[in-house]
Parts: sequence; structure tokens; C-alpha cells
Amino acid sequence: MWRIILLLVCVWMSGSQSEFTNSVIDISHYQTNVDFSKVKSDGIVAVIHKATQGTRYVDPVYSQRRTLAQNYGLLWGAYHFASAGNPIAQADHFLKTVGNIDGVLLVVDLEDNGGNNMTPDEAEQFVKRIREKTGRYPVVYGSPNYLKTFNKENLNKCSLWIAMYSSSPQPILPQFRKSWVLWQYTDGAEGGNPRSVAGIGTCDRDRYNGSVDQLENRWPNL
Ligand SMILES: *[C@@H]1O[C@H](CO)[C@@H](O)[C@H](O)[C@H]1NC(C)=O
Repeated sequence: MWRIILLLVCVWMSGSQSEFTNSVIDISHYQTNVDFSKVKSDGIVAVIHKATQGTRYVDPVYSQRRTLAQNYGLLWGAYHFASAGNPIAQADHFLKTVGNIDGVLLVVDLEDNGGNNMTPDEAEQFVKRIREKTGRYPVVYGSPNYLKTFNKENLNKCSLWIAMYSSSPQPILPQFRKSWVLWQYTDGAEGGNPRSVAGIGTCDRDRYNGSVDQLENRWPNL
């Protein structure tokens, strides 16, 4: 009998103790001094960088930083900052800029862009286009409040990267979402700790829902 109780307790503990790994950062050209060797030594496993915005803009340091980061053995991700209009052209611009997508996490960043915002219907077309061209859905990034209206069939097939600057143990999710893979818990100014990383200073930092091994094994299909 006690063996069964012990077994049940173990099963319960393994189910309830979620492991969140604090080993992901996201940056853009806005961070000017970046030393990936120090970033790596500080325990960071993965870097997600801005690649594009709209149908034309390319982050000027995206491509050089990909090479540098990958030379230090860091996992690499690319995000597209969404704008209003032309979702297919935006998706194509993003993929063209990323180039070889092997090992690259793909993300669409949905947030207020001074009112020049990608609508939920456009976001749906964007992720469908990425899926058609690459065989995978991108990860959807956004805050619980902003994503409230982004309840769409294909968007909901994309894994969620939730943005909520807080030191609470769990983020809040939009009500139609049940789980998250990444949680941006600080922008470097607000939210949980730590808010900085060696080799950069303060920046966006992210938790992963899983262990470092899982992060490395699953990437770029979180
Ligand atoms: C974490 O990921 C697991 C699957 O790996 C999932 O079952 C669980 O719901 C996720 N937890 C959260 C808080 O999203």
C-alpha cells in the first residue's frame, strides 16, 4: 500500500513542479554593446533578435549578430515586428531576411505599433504564410491584454510567448490560451529579476517553460 502512495506522491510532484528556465534574452540593434561570450558565460542559452518590421525594414545588425552568437554556441531566434497591412509581403520579407531557417526560432511580435497595428485577420494570414513556406508555425509574442482579440484558428496553433513584466510565479494568459513556452518577465526596467545580463546590461529577459535540456532539444520547435 505505501508503495502505491509513494508512487502517487511522486507522480503528483512531477506534475505540479513546473521547471522554468531563465536562460533566454531578446534584443535588437537598440542594444549597442553586446559581447556574446559574456552573455554565454552568464548562463544564457538562446538569443532572439529583431530581424524585420513591416515590408521593408531590416534590423541593421541582425545578420552579423546571428553569426557571432552562433559562433559562441548560442541558439538563435528571429522576430518580426508586425505592422498594419500586407501580411503576406511582411512574412516574405521576414523569411527572406532570416535566410536559412535551420535552427532558427521564428517569432511574430504583436504589440501596439503607434496605432499602425497588424489586425488579428492579418496576423492569421501572416502565420499561415510562414507555415506554407517553412512547414512550421512561428511563435506568437504579445501581452495578455493586447492578444485578447487575437483568438483565431491558426494563431492558436502557434506556441505562445507571453509578455508580462512581473515577479509573480506565473504570467496571466489570454482566456483562450492554456499554456506558454516563453515568458518575457522583464524589459530590463520593470518586472522580475534579474533584469540584466553580463555582456549587455539591462535588456528583455525570458523564462522558458521547461529545462535547459528541453530547450536545447526542442529548439527551434518550441
Ligand atoms: C508547460 O509546458 C507543458 C508541456 O511541456 C504544458 O503541459 C504546461 O501546460 C506548460 N505550463 C504552462 C504554465 O504553460
